[in-house]
Amino acid sequence: MYENPRLILDSSNPPEPGEILWRTPSNIAIIKYWGKHGVQLPRNPSLSLTLAASCTDTVLEYAMKEAPDNAIDLEFYFHGEENEAFRTKTLAFLESLTPQFPFLRQLQLTVRTGNSFPHSTGIASSASGMAALALCLCSLEDRLFGTLQEADNFDTKASCIARLGSGSACRSIFPYAAVWGATPAVSGSSDQFAVPAEDLLHPVFKDFHDDILIVSTAEKSVSSRAGHALMEGNPYAEPRYAQARNRLTVLVDALRTGDLETFGKIAEDEALTLHALMMCSNPSFMLLRPDTVALIEKIHAYRRDTKHPVYFTLDAGPNIHLLYPGEIVAEVRGWIEDDLKQHCADEWVIQDWVGEGPEEL
Ligand code: PMV
Repeated sequence: MYENPRLILDSSNPPEPGEILWRTPSNIAIIKYWGKHGVQLPRNPSLSLTLAASCTDTVLEYAMKEAPDNAIDLEFYFHGEENEAFRTKTLAFLESLTPQFPFLRQLQLTVRTGNSFPHSTGIASSASGMAALALCLCSLEDRLFGTLQEADNFDTKASCIARLGSGSACRSIFPYAAVWGATPAVSGSSDQFAVPAEDLLHPVFKDFHDDILIVSTAEKSVSSRAGHALMEGNPYAEPRYAQARNRLTVLVDALRTGDLETFGKIAEDEALTLHALMMCSNPSFMLLRPDTVALIEKIHAYRRDTKHPVYFTLDAGPNIHLLYPGEIVAEVRGWIEDDLKQHCADEWVIQDWVGEGPEEL
């Protein structure tokens, strides 16, 4: 998709050097993507809320190469320092994208990137990082060739490119919420790219919080690449994919009507299903920590006692994402302070919320 051999610069009329900067948020899946096939295609549709505070800023600097050659010329800085490991990874990704962006071989490129949250803390930086890079590349194409003037085309290509970098990244392109993967519940949905889901949201979900309780900052013991691959031999894989499809349809209804209880039930069931799948894969992974379980029990008790609509979800790690509507933010923050923080590494909580999506700065 999006291969275009005509996107080649005229060397007799080189572009002025320039730079592009995108600030791009992470996202939290409510229906989880876990299991893939082909070229980073999902086994089931997923739905996420777009975050605001957890984000990546990426600057892409470009200038025409002085002497043409076939290599991709890339410098890479992470939080101001050259980073060889990230450079190698990004170079391989850009190489894989030359059918979509053939002009990349004609340019000298520098990427300067950094996250609003520390790297390798169990907070997924691949979603915001890959989405930010995809947006920079699409802006570059449009600046050089004027080929992505229509906002919808731009977003769809950016989402498709982000997906090739990291599946869940394709959902970070859109404000508030996004759906990735073909589902009859959302018209225009596709396995190739995410689509915006803002229109599906009752207003209560546009003022929604996700406070991330950092239980552990240790590196994940299973990469998401390995985790997706393990689904191939998992005996529950097929029923799981069917379950995700059904849950997405029910969730879309709950999002439309503002049904917090159904939303919360699905969010928690999905989180526990994801971890159950990891526990029963071969080899098996247990990513929940004792404090994760203690927090889950406290969330259940708080909900029972206060009747507040406070729910959790989890990524492929031990940290709790606490989900709740804006109208109870003061009470919930007080409770986190008094009762939950003690379960977090260095009492660390990242306050996040549903946000307006990426921003070109
Ligand atoms: O995008 P990946 O390959 O890092 O996979 C992400 C998988 C989960 O975060 C566990 C779920 C999701 O849909 O974001």
